[in-house]
Amino acid sequence: MSRGSEFLVVANRLPVDRIVGADGEPAWRRSPGGLVSAIAPVMRRRHGTWIGWTGAPGEELEPFEEDGMALVPIAQSAEEVELYYEGFSNATLWPLYHDVVAPPVYDRAMWDAYVRVNERFAEAAAKVAGKDAIVWVQDYQLQLVPAMLRKLRPDLRIGFFLHIPFPPLELFWQLPWRRQILEGLLGADLVGFQLPGAAANFVRLCRRLLEARYVRHDVYWDDRIVRARAFPISVDVSELNDLIEREDVLERVQEIRSDLGDATILLGVDRLDYTKGIAQRLQAFGELFGDGDLKPGQAVFVQIATPSRERVEQYQLLREDIEQQVGRINGEYGEIGFPVIHYLHSSYDRAELTALYLAADVMVVTPLRDGMNLVAKEYVACRRDMRGALVLSEFAGAAAELRRGAFQVNPYDIDGLKGTILAALDAEPAEQARRMRSMRRRVIEHDVDRWAREFLSELENPAHPVPVTDPALEG
Ligand code: ADP
Ligand code: G6P
Repeated sequence: MSRGSEFLVVANRLPVDRIVGADGEPAWRRSPGGLVSAIAPVMRRRHGTWIGWTGAPGEELEPFEEDGMALVPIAQSAEEVELYYEGFSNATLWPLYHDVVAPPVYDRAMWDAYVRVNERFAEAAAKVAGKDAIVWVQDYQLQLVPAMLRKLRPDLRIGFFLHIPFPPLELFWQLPWRRQILEGLLGADLVGFQLPGAAANFVRLCRRLLEARYVRHDVYWDDRIVRARAFPISVDVSELNDLIEREDVLERVQEIRSDLGDATILLGVDRLDYTKGIAQRLQAFGELFGDGDLKPGQAVFVQIATPSRERVEQYQLLREDIEQQVGRINGEYGEIGFPVIHYLHSSYDRAELTALYLAADVMVVTPLRDGMNLVAKEYVACRRDMRGALVLSEFAGAAAELRRGAFQVNPYDIDGLKGTILAALDAEPAEQARRMRSMRRRVIEHDVDRWAREFLSELENPAHPVPVTDPALEG
């Protein structure tokens, strides 16, 4: 490994996954999820180094370049993948931080693996980082890295960003290793969250659990000041602007529409995750046929469900449930040539996703809890034509910014969801345009570039005045 990088991103995943290509040869494909979508453009611009895992158990690789980024792979054995990634990260922290919508597993062997793998990431970062470098640690899988890295390399400036919600004290308190996690995060100079409420939860926990002194959102710890701030993440508007102009994308939009018989298209795009409220939205949609509000052939739901964390039990159960539900609804309400739901369990490239966004009359985003939800913002960024409507859960971080333009819903309220879907379907073009304009203003002004700039300038120049809360995000 070469030492001397000025700018480092440390994330569980590299931005590319190891796959076997059509020719049977190993190849790389962009990794799923909002984290990679957000950080990859920033990394390319800064010519930094990205430390992460290839997604394949046991694979040991030398550093390499891909897609304009210098990548340093970190190996994880099959056992570590099971205990650290599928276990502590995705069976303990993920459900705990998402309002315990599934029961978290508390297992000591998983915790031990989490500590061990975090240590490996910290050691790799300590080796690669140049003197006084900026290191930006990402997400819930690596919450111990800031303190571990500071111990190894006190010269570094360390930022941490949590892409998912940070739970209130009452939930976080369940975690047997709550103190270690907080102390891990406090190794950073700046701890970033999606929303001001999450930063407030963190500061409150530091005070109650560690008896740390604090002033507003600054925590005094170990003779340092650790700043907790909100930086709502966003999308790469310029990349999407290029895509919506591409001839092949526009042709694909027409093709999708005609393949679906020119029905009104409702669209869901999610990793197949139990936090996303997929079952609730499909139930509401199905009932609209039962009630006679919709007819087969008149409206169709396209649900893209990206395969995700397929060895974790809750994800397996979810997949069974959703696939049964889709079968049931199609069996009950579909007609020959007119299924009411098209369910696609697959990953797509950016061009295909963009074509889907452009073809969709109503985008349905109904998470039970979500840190931000980039899909909602991607849809808005793509609709330069001012058409389409966004149905958005109150429990998505994005709801704070898109409040005025979205059709907001409580996804637990199926009748409310049905009514809101109908209202979105019925919105006149003038209303669609008014709502879209307001949402687009926010997303275009606050794109991912600005998000990264604001985080990094707060990290690099602590005196830089960044408001603790953005007025648009106040409840
Ligand atoms: P999460 O981070 O929980 O997965 P987000 O909505 O914040 O949810 O981010 C998801 C990201 O993954 C978006 O950038 C979206 O475009 C991308 N994505 C989702 N589904 C697919 C898919 N089937 N193929 C390719 N990219 C996808
Ligand atoms: C969310 C998380 C990311 C994660 C992504 C995909 O966006 O915030 O940290 O990388 O989902 O999940 P996976 O488990 O496949 O990395």
